[in-house]
Amino acid sequence: AVSPAPDSTHRSLTRFLIEEQRAGHLNPELRLLIEVVARACKRISVAVGKGALGGVLGDAVAAGGDGASINVQGEAQKKLDVLSNEILLEANAWGGHLAGLASEEMDHSQPIPDAYPRGNYLLLFDPLDGSSNIDVNVSVGTIFSVLRCPEGVAEVGDQHFLQAGREQVAAGYCIYGPSTMLVLTLGHGTHAFTLDREQGSFVLTQRAMRIPEETREFAINMSNQRHWETPMQDYVRDLLAGSEGPRGKDFNMRWIASMVADVHRLLTRGGIFIYPWDRKDPGKAGKLRLMYEANPMSMLVEQAGGAATDGRERLLDVLPGQLHQRVPVFLGSKREVEEATRYHVTHD
Ligand code: AHG
Ligand code: MN
Ligand code: MN
Ligand code: MN
Repeated sequence: AVSPAPDSTHRSLTRFLIEEQRAGHLNPELRLLIEVVARACKRISVAVGKGALGGVLGDAVAAGGDGASINVQGEAQKKLDVLSNEILLEANAWGGHLAGLASEEMDHSQPIPDAYPRGNYLLLFDPLDGSSNIDVNVSVGTIFSVLRCPEGVAEVGDQHFLQAGREQVAAGYCIYGPSTMLVLTLGHGTHAFTLDREQGSFVLTQRAMRIPEETREFAINMSNQRHWETPMQDYVRDLLAGSEGPRGKDFNMRWIASMVADVHRLLTRGGIFIYPWDRKDPGKAGKLRLMYEANPMSMLVEQAGGAATDGRERLLDVLPGQLHQRVPVFLGSKREVEEATRYHVTHD
């Protein structure tokens, strides 16, 4: 007789999702959605992996043919930003699991075309995170978030996506690094899958990831230091003071400038990741996007025992006012995020 595969080895994403469905953690429609997103990520992984050979590096050209293409965020789009967005749109259009989609790379949300059946979920994504790194061959990724479409909605619009992060039913990212990995939560822990390139399937390689509560590692873009507010200046000054300062320990620093890669590191070995508010562009409240970056990463981090705040409040409780809203982000090891948050709260 053939013995069943041991618990976490050789368990495909498909089998994992079936078992989660039997445990009551998701329904068949959401299972299809996750499978479709994972399939789209495999296609993006292939495109990213081809690099210069695929002719996909460099900037996208504006529709008119002259100049760079600028997205709604005011950023120059890379060819791979556009391609990844198209892959995700095409893969998710026809399955009947979605009511609408929203993306960092699109001005507005899109309802599912009339030609296809409409489902109950809303999908949000950052098709290619860290895309400024793409031409230098550093890890990039795709981040996604799933919300329920409110009941009785006839025509899906941007306003239906404006739900607090705690309403997410699933979130995840796919990182295109030395290996391609999918990190996923359905609200019952955070689990990591590694792409078996020969088999073409994601295999469960870490069940129930846990972020250490304490850390000696922080991630921040220090070049913005002079633009930060006072409590942020104070917090980092005390980290840099090391064992002679009030924190009584030495800290190490890492900044990859791909959020997926920085978050993947802290999910693996702990750390705090910060993109604070800064004075350069006060109206924008930081650089990262609440709906495509902060919310999905916060759910993944909380589900792994970490914490996520905007420096003052829990990120998953922030009520969005706009689809492309930006927010300060503090996430990672629980005690360290609480400490950084305390500097801000006691200062106010
Ligand atoms: P994106 O490539 O999706 O626009 O996101 C880039 C983000 C994030 O991945 C990263 O943490 C941050 O920008 C880096 O910002 P700086 O270049 O200011 O360090
Ligand atoms: Mn961008
Ligand atoms: Mn991003
Ligand atoms: Mn992006």
